Amino acid sequence: MKYIELNEIDSTNAYLSEKLLSGEITEPTTVFTHSQNKGKGMGQNIWVSDNDKNALFSIALFTEIKTEEIFKVSLATSMAIYEFLKLKGITTKIKWPNDIYYDGKKLGGILIENKLDGNIVKASVIGVGLNLNQEKFPKWLPNPISLKNITGQDYDAKKFITGISGMVEKKLNEIKDVPFADLRLDYLLNLYCFGKIMMWKIQGIKDEISGSIVDVKPSGKIVVQAVSGQLCECDIKEIKLIDDF
Ligand code: BTN
Repeated sequence: MKYIELNEIDSTNAYLSEKLLSGEITEPTTVFTHSQNKGKGMGQNIWVSDNDKNALFSIALFTEIKTEEIFKVSLATSMAIYEFLKLKGITTKIKWPNDIYYDGKKLGGILIENKLDGNIVKASVIGVGLNLNQEKFPKWLPNPISLKNITGQDYDAKKFITGISGMVEKKLNEIKDVPFADLRLDYLLNLYCFGKIMMWKIQGIKDEISGSIVDVKPSGKIVVQAVSGQLCECDIKEIKLIDDF
């Protein structure tokens, strides 16, 4: 893995995506920054972080997996972060599709941008924001938490960035050729609210339903089973957990 350290940048994801497109990046590379002034989050969200407090980085990998199994990139990333934090004594949950949660609060977020060629994912830019040493967050952020909030300790961002980048690359290589059916249970068992009855708002269904997550598909779609027995397969834009902040 090659590492690029930047003092300040708009977004490490945007930076790495541009370099990939222009052909300047040809090997697995992680770019990290001390300050990000236009951090991108999932959907229309932004990612905010105080300077020099948290891990802000993006990993470019030459993925080479079929688009129908695109969720393997996400699964490898969230599981690698889960396992890395576990080694540090912090047991997290993955909130589908790939938020890192601790005690019902968001410790980290992942933003994956894939470069496709036909039905092959050629390369992935895997952006990770992990809250390490920041103790106070803007009031408008729904439910943030940092490792320092949890343990009172300070953490070395570079060690997290190199450790996690290496583990993500390794994990993706390991699972690339493993059938998705053999990976899903491990992921589901680490999922926030897995098997618990929760309230959901699902696109196309008028009323909120109560049901539980029962499966995840290779595409990344989640399967929720309503208490009525009905199965709903949804992507990220189609479903919302109601008691979500
Ligand atoms: C989310 O919305 O939960 C995803 C957040 C991803 C944030 C990280 S910070 C480093 C990288 N660069 C970006 O612009 N975004 C990701």
